Amino acid sequence: MNTRMRRAAVAVAATAMAVSLAACGSAKESGDKTKESAPPAAGDDIKVGLLLPENQTARYEAFDKPLIEKKIAELTGGKAEVVYANAKQDATAQNSQVDTMITNKVNVLILDAVDSKAIAGAVKRAKDAGIPVVAYDRLAEGPIDAYTSFDNEEVGKVQGKALLEALGGKAKNGQIVMMNGSVTDPNAALFKKGAHSVLDGKVNIGKEYDTVEWKPENANTNMAGAITALGKNKIIGVYSANDGMAGGIITALKAAGFKTLPPVTGQDAELAGVQRIVAGEQFMSVYKPYAPEAAAAAEMAVALAKGQKLDSLAKSTVDSPTTKGVPSILVPVVSLTKANIKDTVVKDGVYSAKEICAGKYAAACAAIGLK
Ligand code: GAL
Repeated sequence: MNTRMRRAAVAVAATAMAVSLAACGSAKESGDKTKESAPPAAGDDIKVGLLLPENQTARYEAFDKPLIEKKIAELTGGKAEVVYANAKQDATAQNSQVDTMITNKVNVLILDAVDSKAIAGAVKRAKDAGIPVVAYDRLAEGPIDAYTSFDNEEVGKVQGKALLEALGGKAKNGQIVMMNGSVTDPNAALFKKGAHSVLDGKVNIGKEYDTVEWKPENANTNMAGAITALGKNKIIGVYSANDGMAGGIITALKAAGFKTLPPVTGQDAELAGVQRIVAGEQFMSVYKPYAPEAAAAAEMAVALAKGQKLDSLAKSTVDSPTTKGVPSILVPVVSLTKANIKDTVVKDGVYSAKEICAGKYAAACAAIGLK
């Protein structure tokens, strides 16, 4: 466990370093270019449009937004302006937000799509207006210029493996319930694919749901339905694609009177999720270090706004259903359990031990030596 974690942490640090080194290179290139050739698309006083999909999952406004803004300020000596909008899970609203950004003449867009297909037309309109688009976290369709995310199939595998580990030799002694994310989110399909690749044949899947809009309350309703359909005594584990839904699932399990909760997975290392892990209510989460992902988006966006190539930043490419060979940067993820809270989210300064261990979590923290 320790070695694996250390390796992952090193990989994360290495990625972050590679990203910033590459950035140094491109900043220099831009300087040279300014001297030699026609004026670049823009100087440091660029306008960056930032569109995030929702504000229920803590990550977007607590981490992604401030981290991207900070990195853009760093890269442009504080000269860039970031124009922000959150679609609050509304795909139509996000389409209009892209149009507003086009009207506002942003130099580049960083876009985390609510619905990767429904946004394709708006991406095309941005492209036609000469605005490059960096797809953030979710692979938006349409003519995007760059993409950064985590290895999302790997996220599903990490979750599936952790669930098998928690079930030990008893994996077939009952049924598991699978709570996947929203069908409009291409990542949800990848998490699901990765999880199935590990779980199929090893467990009995009693019920499986694609949860509308990732909503915890929908996961709660689905879980209550699964408990009624399968019977309380038959459920031995729950695959939940993220922490928000894990919260809704655990509430349903408690309401149904489970004395010992079955292992439940998660993702996003939300504070409430980490606290449930400490308290033994949730088995695991997936820690996705947002800083390197945000840095990659900022670096690619600034480079594109200045009319630079991404060769030195993005070493790999991905294909979306509509666009082939998109330059991409993927950041590794870490399985988060009781055993490595200190070495991951606390070490990286995401939460302090004090925050995690506040109030009713103090005793559980003490029991695992977290202080
Ligand atoms: C995914 C994202 C996850 C989680 C989820 C719920 O696309 O990768 O980190 O936030 O959406 O919105």
